Amino acid sequence: MSRVFLIGFMGAGKSGVGRALAAELGLSFVDLDSEVEKTEGLSVAQIFERDGEQGFRRAERAALAAVSASADAVVACGGGVVLDERNRALMRSSGVVLMLDVSAEEALTRVGSSRTRPLLQDADGSGVRDMLQERMDLYRATAHHIVATVGRSVLDVTREACSVITSSEIGDIDVSAGAGYTVFIGASLMDETNVFPGMLASRSRVAIVTDSNVGRLHAVCIERSLREAGVDSFTCTLEPGETSKNWLRAGTLLEEFALAGLDRQGAVLALGGGVVGDLAGFCAAVYMRGVPVVQVPTTLLAQVDSSIGGKTGVDLAAGKNLAGAFWQPAAVLSDVTLLNTLPDAEWHNGMAEAVKTALLAGPEAVAQLTADAVDLAARDEAAVLRCVRMCAGFKARVVSADERESGMRECLNLGHTLGHAIEKVAGYGTVGHGVAVAEGLRFAAFLSARLLGAPSELQQRVNTLLDVCGVPRYLVTGSVADLAAAMSLDKKARGGVVRFVLLRDVGDWVVVSVEPDVARKSLADWLDRS
Ligand SMILES: NC(=O)c1ccc[n+]([C@@H]2O[C@H](COP(=O)([O-])OP(=O)(O)OC[C@H]3O[C@@H](n4cnc5c(N)ncnc54)[C@H](O)[C@@H]3O)[C@@H](O)[C@H]2O)c1
Repeated sequence: MSRVFLIGFMGAGKSGVGRALAAELGLSFVDLDSEVEKTEGLSVAQIFERDGEQGFRRAERAALAAVSASADAVVACGGGVVLDERNRALMRSSGVVLMLDVSAEEALTRVGSSRTRPLLQDADGSGVRDMLQERMDLYRATAHHIVATVGRSVLDVTREACSVITSSEIGDIDVSAGAGYTVFIGASLMDETNVFPGMLASRSRVAIVTDSNVGRLHAVCIERSLREAGVDSFTCTLEPGETSKNWLRAGTLLEEFALAGLDRQGAVLALGGGVVGDLAGFCAAVYMRGVPVVQVPTTLLAQVDSSIGGKTGVDLAAGKNLAGAFWQPAAVLSDVTLLNTLPDAEWHNGMAEAVKTALLAGPEAVAQLTADAVDLAARDEAAVLRCVRMCAGFKARVVSADERESGMRECLNLGHTLGHAIEKVAGYGTVGHGVAVAEGLRFAAFLSARLLGAPSELQQRVNTLLDVCGVPRYLVTGSVADLAAAMSLDKKARGGVVRFVLLRDVGDWVVVSVEPDVARKSLADWLDRS
């Protein structure tokens, strides 16, 4: 969290609470009306007189854009800032938005008939009530959090605001890997002109890499955002799906970069799911011995997992992801609004990875995902933001601690040993990756109980969580022998001994080497029971 916007009706206490909150958080305080007055050289009342409300709103929008692009601060906004849709999106994407809630009666008592508030001049009590009613829905829809103020002191409200903000789930996530970078998470980020990090604005050209499904739906808004930010770009489009993630396509993509004149001052922007992210990231790693890549993930899987951590690569005939490079992105922009167009099957793939992450992250993450499950199934924006942020935060911590997968990063393979075997035996593309991983998670919980004595309710919790999150069951078709053989050929296997990430309990994982016959027998028993 870096910026806090206080919104609410006039008289809600935004200035008083804002000053106290800024002092408490060690941030500077900005009063948006004062910023407008400074720029225009007139008081708010005088601007209204000269330019009308429309003129004031224009100046207010410009002041908000300037504040949102500059230093961290607590910003007290005027009561009407939410009337403009662009302001609402900008505040939500560039900071934490806190609504100070006040009733019309209390607001009237607090502001009286102030002559400095132009919209109050003609308003009797009923006018204020109508205005409050009209704006209330907008305040609520814009706020990340709401704090009640009626009957409470400034100190009391500030304390609550402070605790809400410091435990806030909204804001950016920093990753300490490579040169270090930020994962920006928000809604409608792509509608902002200043959404792209400064580094892109300084680049000579940007190659947008996407696939035809995503390109059709979302490339135009990215191209427009770049254009408005003064960045020259061209777009390279892949066929959708895993089959594009190959050596040949990497080669032709590199040729497209060269033909379009991308030079060392250029950059790559990966707009798509994990396939686009892995391939574009790999090409960025090798083009001119490395140009920056910005990841703009468009699948849930890519937002909760693959866009963070710098693993890039292509598949070889011998197996998935066998050639590649670690190439950390310059930034990740996760705009959950892009997920609205994602097909259900892809949504479920991402949810399985989110369940995996919660099981690794601990009981609080599992509780959050469980509480949000119904809203997540309906793709409720606030729930999706919480989910993406929880998963991205966990992945960022893991990658920051173990950039090259020499230790902790191995935990991310939970559920993947059997998951990969199911995909291989069924034939790649026949079963969704996430659906296969979900079965792998169920088996890992079974094996954890058998080999580590994990609590028996762990299996129940894993099954329930996957079910409430709507991940469909997959009737495993392959024979035990084929699945066990595929597991022993897994990249992580050593001399036929299969390595599983298992759980002693939620949040307490361990890597266990399992002899092939034990793995086979356990798999047979689990398949019999499920
Ligand atoms: N690098 C890593 O750390 C890492 C981690 C996990 C997985 N991966 C890789 O990720 C890949 C899988 O990624 P994926 O599941 O995102 O698949 P994907 O990239 O193939 O996307 C799935 C499908 O969804 C479509 N799509 C994407 N975004 C959309 C949107 N917003 N609206 C409509 N359609 C959309 C795509 O066109 C595609 O058809 C695999 O290759 C896997 O190896 C990499």
